[in-house]
Amino acid sequence: MDERRREYLRLLGVEALEPRDDGPLAPSPAPSPAAAPSPGAGPSAAAGPSAGPVAGPCAGDDWEALARRVRSCTACELAATRTQTVFGVGDHGARWMLIGEAPGAEEDRQGLPFVGRAGQLLTSMVRATGWSRDQVFIANILKCRPPNNRDPRPEEVAHCEGYLHRQVALLRPAVILCLGRIAAQNLLKVEAPLKALRGRTHSYGPAGTPVVVTFHPAYLLRNPADKRRAWEDLRLVLRLLEEAGERAGA
Ligand code: URA
Repeated sequence: MDERRREYLRLLGVEALEPRDDGPLAPSPAPSPAAAPSPGAGPSAAAGPSAGPVAGPCAGDDWEALARRVRSCTACELAATRTQTVFGVGDHGARWMLIGEAPGAEEDRQGLPFVGRAGQLLTSMVRATGWSRDQVFIANILKCRPPNNRDPRPEEVAHCEGYLHRQVALLRPAVILCLGRIAAQNLLKVEAPLKALRGRTHSYGPAGTPVVVTFHPAYLLRNPADKRRAWEDLRLVLRLLEEAGERAGA
């Protein structure tokens, strides 16, 4: 294990688990049946070539058209209070996608996801796995900041989710890591608490993309003792990536 990765593991507070990091990877748990394809409300019912045919305004969009569509979106009232939309960032060929809840103040200012304190921890979490932030794709359930960082409202999620579905269809990731309860519940269309969603593999969309659920990094900043549990979730992601034939830096 190289020195930089060791440092990220230390930041993540998982030094004690280090010897097991490089050990053989156990088979991942079977996908949970709970995760059905999203019903497809919002601007698009999602999907692309690999995900099955679903109609909707975004369905034929490439990355550029989709980004333009998101930039000019006024489908819900968040358009009136945002500074700018936050489309998502990363490698369009990424095999690992991370999905958070919604932009916060700093993300709204910069137009990029996870660039505040929680974002710094997220970057460390990714680095601890041996992957880098520019090898993954990071997006949110909502593309606009809810005022005062309140929870997303169902109608806002409904208006926005077609964009995320299309991002997933374009990307065709091998694994999605869902960050926090709200992102997980909205992506998977379930009401279960986070603790019931962690530790197993869900599946998303017509392509059945494997989904792992972990804590939101903002929660981990407030509850550092749970970083160890987050590391277990990251190990599950690594297992799924490895099963899909994906390795960091490949
Ligand atoms: N929290 C999120 O869920 N997403 C961001 O982009 C930033 C903070």
